[in-house]
Amino acid sequence: MKKYLIALFMAVLPVTAMAAGGGAPLDHIEVDLENKPSLQRGMATFVNRCLGCHSADYQRYERAANDIGLPPELVQEYMIFGDQKVGEQMHNAMSKDDAANWFGNPPPDLSLEARLRGPDWIYTYLRSFYQDPARPWGVNNVVFKDVGMPNVLEDLQGVQINNCTPEELLHHGDAEIDPLTGARMSECLTVVDGTGKLSEEEFDQTIYDLTNFLTYMGEPYRLESERLGTKVLIFLAIFFVFAYALKKEYWKDVH
Ligand code: HEC
Repeated sequence: MKKYLIALFMAVLPVTAMAAGGGAPLDHIEVDLENKPSLQRGMATFVNRCLGCHSADYQRYERAANDIGLPPELVQEYMIFGDQKVGEQMHNAMSKDDAANWFGNPPPDLSLEARLRGPDWIYTYLRSFYQDPARPWGVNNVVFKDVGMPNVLEDLQGVQINNCTPEELLHHGDAEIDPLTGARMSECLTVVDGTGKLSEEEFDQTIYDLTNFLTYMGEPYRLESERLGTKVLIFLAIFFVFAYALKKEYWKDVH
């Protein structure tokens, strides 16, 4: 028995170790795939702001539209640029070689990104670009050092500057939250007033919605499986009553 327990522990160990990861601390969010308005806003941001460079080749527009409650005709009209049809995958026309020349690394396909990195990482990454004149696009990132992606949401967030040394920056979340008030105590990154179109809360909400949508894309069947799972459990509960009654009937003469 003990041996089995140890084997089980060993099997689970690498998963938890991987989830912990290294590097800068991440801001935590609870994704909510039942929140359709959030997923719809996330999809709008994704097609407007990300699809120009990144593709989502495992996701069809129509499937996403149906899953998150958008009429496919509206998606065809307002969310598809170029001559793609709503039944097609979310491709883009950028060639991988050109992209590698422009950015150093080509922008990866984002269909499975949330499964690869996790929602917390994406949420933190998109809010952690800061000004760094030494980099080709003038920005660096706390959780992705020397990133090849420009800060494509800077007009919304504003120019973010870093007040810490690289070492402090890496640990900026450690002592950041005041346990009593929940307020941030030492802020490494601050947005220059008046440079962004959105307030901090609005920007965080935009990124939350976008991350929610990326999480949905990673597991488009999850919503469906959860609904089906509930039905199966209800069925099993009802079935149990009959099975139990039948068992009693069979055994009644034995005792
Ligand atoms: C101008 C082109 C461009 C746009 C627009 C763009 N990205 Fe990127 N993105 C890149 C490039 C290039 C990389 C690869 C960076 C590297 O490897 O150094 C990247 C990397 C990423 C990564 C990290 C991938 C990894 O390595 O795990 C994520 C996540 C990401 N982008 C999300 C987004 C989201 C979400 C949007 C829309 C808000 C977006 N990107 C818009 C160019 C772009």
